[in-house]
Amino acid sequence: MLLATSKSKSPLIVYLLTSIFFLLVCAAPLPAQVESKANDLLRQMTLEEKVGQLSQMPGFPVPEFMQQNGITPEDAVRKYGAGSVLWVSDPKQINRWQHIAVDESRLHIPIIFGLDVIHGYHTIFPDPLAMASSWDPKMVEAAQSVAAREARAAGITWTFGPMVDIARDARWGRMMEGAGEDPYLGAAMARAQVLGFQGAQLGGPDHVLASVKHFAGYGAAEGGRDYDASYVPEELMWNVYLPPFKAAVDAGVGTVMSAYMDLNDVPASGNRWLLHDVLRNAWHFKGFVVSDANAVHSLITHGYARDGADAAYKAFTAGVNMDMASGTYLKFLPQEVRAGRISMQQIDDAVRPILEAKIRLGLFENPYVDVSKIDRVLNDPQSQQSARVAVQRSVILLRNEGNVLPLNKSNIKSIAVIGPLGDATTDLLSMWGALAKPGPTVSILQGIKEKVGNGVQVEFAHGPNLWREIPSFFENIPGFAIKAQPKQSAEEAKRAIDDAVALARQSDVAILVLGEIDLMSGEAASRSSLKLSGGQQELLEAVVATGKPVVLVLVNGRPLEISWAAEHVPAILEAWYPGSQGGNGIADILFGDANPAGHLPVSWPRTAGSAPVYYNHNLTQAPEDAPGFKSRYWDIVSTPLFPFGYGLSYTSFSYDNLRVSQPVAKIGTNIEVSVDVTNTGTRSGDAVVQLYIHQRAGSASRPVRQLEGFQRVTLAAGEKQTLHFTLGKNELQFWSPASKQWVVEPEQFDVWAGGDSTAKLHGEFRLVN
Ligand code: NOJ
Repeated sequence: MLLATSKSKSPLIVYLLTSIFFLLVCAAPLPAQVESKANDLLRQMTLEEKVGQLSQMPGFPVPEFMQQNGITPEDAVRKYGAGSVLWVSDPKQINRWQHIAVDESRLHIPIIFGLDVIHGYHTIFPDPLAMASSWDPKMVEAAQSVAAREARAAGITWTFGPMVDIARDARWGRMMEGAGEDPYLGAAMARAQVLGFQGAQLGGPDHVLASVKHFAGYGAAEGGRDYDASYVPEELMWNVYLPPFKAAVDAGVGTVMSAYMDLNDVPASGNRWLLHDVLRNAWHFKGFVVSDANAVHSLITHGYARDGADAAYKAFTAGVNMDMASGTYLKFLPQEVRAGRISMQQIDDAVRPILEAKIRLGLFENPYVDVSKIDRVLNDPQSQQSARVAVQRSVILLRNEGNVLPLNKSNIKSIAVIGPLGDATTDLLSMWGALAKPGPTVSILQGIKEKVGNGVQVEFAHGPNLWREIPSFFENIPGFAIKAQPKQSAEEAKRAIDDAVALARQSDVAILVLGEIDLMSGEAASRSSLKLSGGQQELLEAVVATGKPVVLVLVNGRPLEISWAAEHVPAILEAWYPGSQGGNGIADILFGDANPAGHLPVSWPRTAGSAPVYYNHNLTQAPEDAPGFKSRYWDIVSTPLFPFGYGLSYTSFSYDNLRVSQPVAKIGTNIEVSVDVTNTGTRSGDAVVQLYIHQRAGSASRPVRQLEGFQRVTLAAGEKQTLHFTLGKNELQFWSPASKQWVVEPEQFDVWAGGDSTAKLHGEFRLVN
């Protein structure tokens, strides 16, 4: 329209009209306007209406007390309004709920609809651990902006991501939702995801409100058992577990989700140190805190709160603004205020950021979903293409003996695709991908078939089924499109292995797709063993014994125990949960249309018994390279199977000429480090150049190495580039347990650059006062 009418006008007028149009449509309200509108509303609100805003209503079977009182969540919205509604994702239902809030509640305050859009809404991207493996924050930002656009078009205005919990123990099922073990990489991924979800400023069109979670220390669950207590000393909180959250806050994240577990004996959702001292006082966070689901009520279950009133009081005064779906605030906060234990000023201060978020999101002007636009946004082919590229950039080549990969179509007549994940679709999405509204998914079998075309015969053998020994409660939650494969007897599993072996024997190459179905990783999916379960190891060994060339593709949410494979299977690709375009992206890598450059965001353990394993541990009195101290264990070496940062390519790289700007520098000046990276192979590829430092002495023992910079660069065959890194205050400081503050110390430092955390290329410098 605008373009058609503008043709007759002069360019200047067109320019001015267009600028005015965009200013009017896109101009975000100023902070003062937002605050004053929120205050206007607060002045008109009753106590119950305010508490309604502090409550997220469940869009699923209602909490017990609501049933007892005969109130449905919808009645509650009608009577008091609501801050948010959880897990209602059908656009028609969203509009129905929104009409109740906007038309039937006294003050017409719209609802924010929240859903776990963790790595895609309709177009499912690789899971967050996979995207972190790309070491490509720009790609991750773009992926999450597609997720935001799709979710927003369908009426979701709030995602419960990014999940930025540091995970050092692969037994913990939720490792796949985060960026792995490293605070620096984790912070980069946190920042990228917040920008992707929210845009540069909260309230941009096609974006949603983000919620960084789970604040904080959830990944340190004892024994890797989901929900179990975490004991994390303060120095480890500041230096390792908190930096990704800080990065999200600095990137403007609008909300923070408190975690479930006890942190140092105080449940995170009632932990004032976390929610007030760190988040508000130290970091000046201005948005709002939502509890995890039912976590306010769970303060009673934890044995921390006496009863519902005490739980509401403890969570609220610790700093939780919004109660996710437990109904505890709705029932008990008003009486806490009437009894004088909580002041109206405190309530207003908690409600204000929620109202401000709604104003910024433009919900007062546009509360409803435009159902007619949804399909166009969800079916944008560009999104599928971006997801495919994301797979190509995330997959990690762990082994490639004798250059088995890439496969050459013209030399192959027949391929056996084998394994319980070979034809999987939903299982490529992870449990959260399956909760959103996933579109069609390309299985690995399908991706390979499409890649090789009719000239090559591609046959599939499923092998034995995969299931959890103890079923997941998510299987019973409506909305989750996930289910385990049926249990099999030992004879059935054996027959399935025999069939697969027969197929391998008659094929030129076998591609095994093994790992974990979606229910085996994610929430409530911790494992005591990291073995390839359900007969997969037997299947793998039997197929390798045929003598055919074997490629192992792993689909899983965490590193698995693959020491045998790492010795006997020539080619291993780690795909994690690759999402809707998994099959195509993996086929691109298998056949060399894309060159893998993913690198591990976690250290790969040899066995579950070595957990936690992470590269940035302290030196100790017996470093692993000291004579006589080869291992901490008597039965295996204590180094990981593959180090943090590791990943191969179809080409090779060399790292040379590390230069440090000043061998001695005053604290406060930046140290510039440069390094040459050369593609020494015969094809173009991406190098992920990593910079590590170590402080040799100081007020505390410092990690043997810490990542403090990385760059992913594309190099043509033979090309050399010089990369520059800056080590400033942020990179050189640490939180010292001696002084209980951030310090940069006058000490000697080592610096290494290379392709993983064992990089050899070394330099050093000294900081002085
Ligand atoms: C519980 C999970 O811990 C959290 O990550 C999620 O966002 C909420 N449920 C809501 O689905």
